Amino acid sequence: MPTQRFSSFRPGAIWPDTDGVHINAHGGGLLWDQGTYYWFGEHKIAGPEGNRAMVGVSCYSSQDLHNWDNRGIVLPVVEGDEDHDLVRGCVIERPKVVHNARTGKYVLWFHLELRGQGYSAARTGVAVADNPLGPYEYQGSFRPDDHMSRDMTILVDDDQIAYLLCASEDNQTLHISQLTDDYQRPAGRFERVFVGRYMEAPAICKHEGRYWFIGSGCTGWKPNKARSAVATSIWGPWEEQGNPCVGPDADLTFLAQSTYLLPVHGRPGCFLFLADRWHPENPIDGRYVWLPLEFIDGHLVVRWRDEWDLSFFDQQ
Ligand code: DGJ
Repeated sequence: MPTQRFSSFRPGAIWPDTDGVHINAHGGGLLWDQGTYYWFGEHKIAGPEGNRAMVGVSCYSSQDLHNWDNRGIVLPVVEGDEDHDLVRGCVIERPKVVHNARTGKYVLWFHLELRGQGYSAARTGVAVADNPLGPYEYQGSFRPDDHMSRDMTILVDDDQIAYLLCASEDNQTLHISQLTDDYQRPAGRFERVFVGRYMEAPAICKHEGRYWFIGSGCTGWKPNKARSAVATSIWGPWEEQGNPCVGPDADLTFLAQSTYLLPVHGRPGCFLFLADRWHPENPIDGRYVWLPLEFIDGHLVVRWRDEWDLSFFDQQ
């Protein structure tokens, strides 16, 4: 039987891949590479234990952002080596892949918690591959600049310098760390931003020379009110601009939490806001809320839509 083809986004709905199975790539990050979008995410399993990494980092690919092929697990958890950072049952969250033009490598960053240690390790893991689908070779984990690192994302700037943004200092303060030229380690310079604001779920993009940020408050798997901010330098100062969401449940980020701000390839100025609706009682059922990101009067706006497609941007 032919599988369903999609030509629109339906935020919060079950989203079948091209095999007809709900996409399993939570807390995701996207990469556009040579005509294809790659969606990397947390592979979750059913049941209350399903937020731990039992399988690894998943990957899907698409030409149109609507229809996604399951490309399998690009970084599997490790079986049988109890001392390995990635032993089955650890926590792997918010994987992000960036391509390094200088080395040609694809570099996967993720939040890592060691098995059996709750969220106390607060580390970042790095793995490297020669092509987007891997296999990714694990390089190890660390606390960037010797500071805690939980929710995170990566931005590659126009000048090809990459930055890690992570919730640090027990989630109180966000850290922004410049990465080395090969994108595989922190380069040594970092700034503390949103000091004492308990920002999680950092997502960032660059538009018309400014850096635009969306994050969340800090309430575990429960949704809360999103926050937005803008800066002319990534190092700050960052101007907080409040909740960008508009529509039903706007004060709970549409029952979701920010994950990524995606530039639409070939459409300058067009970005998607990507968020996760977590279902901690059955994490495999987590849903995706993808909405257009609007820049209105110097502010970010994310307006709820039951269904929409990329022709939205034709009217911009
Ligand atoms: C909220 C974070 O954004 C998620 O990535 C995850 O770490 C949960 N907290 C865990 O409670």
